[in-house]
Amino acid sequence: MKVIAFNGSPRKKWNTATLLEKALEGASSQGAETNLIHLYDLNYKGCISCFACKTKEGKSYGRCAVKDDLTPIFKKILDVRSLIFGSPIYLGTATGQMRSFMERMVFPFLPYTDPPGSIFPKKIKTGFIYTLGATEEMAKERGFDHHISLNEMILERIFGASETLCSYDTYQFEDYSKVFAPRFDPEKKAQRRQEIFPLDCEKAFEMGARLARKDEW
Ligand SMILES: Cc1cc2nc3c(=O)[nH]c(=O)nc-3n(C[C@H](O)[C@H](O)[C@H](O)COP(=O)(O)O)c2cc1C
Repeated sequence: MKVIAFNGSPRKKWNTATLLEKALEGASSQGAETNLIHLYDLNYKGCISCFACKTKEGKSYGRCAVKDDLTPIFKKILDVRSLIFGSPIYLGTATGQMRSFMERMVFPFLPYTDPPGSIFPKKIKTGFIYTLGATEEMAKERGFDHHISLNEMILERIFGASETLCSYDTYQFEDYSKVFAPRFDPEKKAQRRQEIFPLDCEKAFEMGARLARKDEW
């Protein structure tokens, strides 16, 4: 039983990656074979609108025809119990690397039917972990939650049940004294990192465990 996580942060050891590692530990605690893929290590672009995946009787119907570093990953996702996505919020949405990945992964399984459906061959569970510099209140005020719910809706439509975890007000810089960021109080940030982030890590672990269990939800 396999669970794959995708890190949409360029940083391999920071907030998003740490939470994904915890989620995979949770999945592993249920016996899953786990794999963490760093999207910034891969060479690919977003959807090029070739519509090979939508061409009637075409050899790529329902599959992405572009050949690059995502090609072997698209084969792997046919054989998983669940997928876990992780991304920082950049300018109100998931990172460009994660957006491009989602376009390529999701669009081939999304037929232009009315009502919209899915041609992904089975139901799997998915989870999405976001990290944000903003507090929960700021994120709502600025409408980031709309983007987050839209992604959840898309993942539910294509793959099945999906859950979301947000880690707010993250510790962003190695050394706050070296950056110009008067909006942040370094002490408050450090305190949150010490007190709240570990709780988010626990939530990520539980999420990973739930996603790996077969009959839960
Ligand atoms: C280019 C860039 C844009 C960002 N935009 C936002 C934003 O719109 N809203 C927000 O809450 N945080 C924003 N952040 C902060 C990150 O989302 C936050 O620090 C996140 O936890 C970083 O993830 P990482 O530690 O895994 O790299 C931005 C950071 C960068 C580098």
